[in-house]
Amino acid sequence: MFTGDLKNITMVTVNFSLKGKVALITGGSRGIGRAIALAFAEAGAKVAISARKQQDLDAVADEINSKGQECLPTIAHVAKMDESRALLNRVKSHFGRIDILVNNAGTNPYNGPLIDAEEWAWDIIMNVNLKGPFMLSLMAAKLMREQGGGNIINMASATGIRPSDFHIYGVSKAALIMLTQIMAREFGQYNIRVNAIAPGIITTRLSESLWKEPQNKEEIIKHCSLGRLGVPEDIAGAAIYLASDASKYVTGTTIIIDGGEKN
Ligand SMILES: NC(=O)c1ccc[n+]([C@@H]2O[C@H](COP(=O)([O-])OP(=O)(O)OC[C@H]3O[C@@H](n4cnc5c(N)ncnc54)[C@H](OP(=O)(O)O)[C@@H]3O)[C@@H](O)[C@H]2O)c1
Repeated sequence: MFTGDLKNITMVTVNFSLKGKVALITGGSRGIGRAIALAFAEAGAKVAISARKQQDLDAVADEINSKGQECLPTIAHVAKMDESRALLNRVKSHFGRIDILVNNAGTNPYNGPLIDAEEWAWDIIMNVNLKGPFMLSLMAAKLMREQGGGNIINMASATGIRPSDFHIYGVSKAALIMLTQIMAREFGQYNIRVNAIAPGIITTRLSESLWKEPQNKEEIIKHCSLGRLGVPEDIAGAAIYLASDASKYVTGTTIIIDGGEKN
């Protein structure tokens, strides 16, 4: 209880700045990844973004550069290990280091009934959503260990916490949440923090089939405590928190950002 005696109050300065940090965001060319790249740049980070299409990457890089902030766009398929390795090498040689890796690129090419799912769907989803982030994290963690520390953020999903119709996708995200916890346990000794974000439905191309139809949109809103759809910018604040010293004692956790899903 506050007694009116100011000398007993300790002032805490919380540092959300990313000044001087180098961040790589996969899938940074649109949607959630783009919002995080813009927010990180605004918070002072030098930003590298990757995806498969150069044109989309260049558009985001131009947007960031036009504000006088630095952005390096690089094509890399997240499930191709040689491309991931080349990506990290490019970031390291351009900026000299890598402090933050956001494993954000993700995909979901199959939403039909689980019983009809085929092997190709499992392979693509697991390779892009799980194996890609796994291998890129290992490669980045080795560089971070040499540097004396770093920070990894995995873009999971609420579907990795609660079962949904996005079955295989949900399994990949559940595994990513467990991978986050396991990496956090081991990488803590290298001063590398590993956390995850689990968004609910956010209006991006990936989830378009869910919210584009007005009827579906209304149904989603009905089940959201805050009564609206999420937008990519809703994820950026948590990403800055996890990437910055504001969360310096946080590792192995998953932040759910879903507007408060109601059943
Ligand atoms: N939107 C949602 O409702 C929602 C909810 C929960 C979690 N998430 C997760 O949030 C992350 C971002 O998704 P989003 O909604 O922002 O989707 P999005 O708008 O479709 O963006 C996906 C990004 O990932 C890139 N990408 C896709 N496949 C790739 C690959 N194989 N290699 C490299 N880059 C690839 C895309 O660029 P290219 O196509 O040019 O490669 C794009 O930059 C994903 O991990 C997703 O699972 C989204």
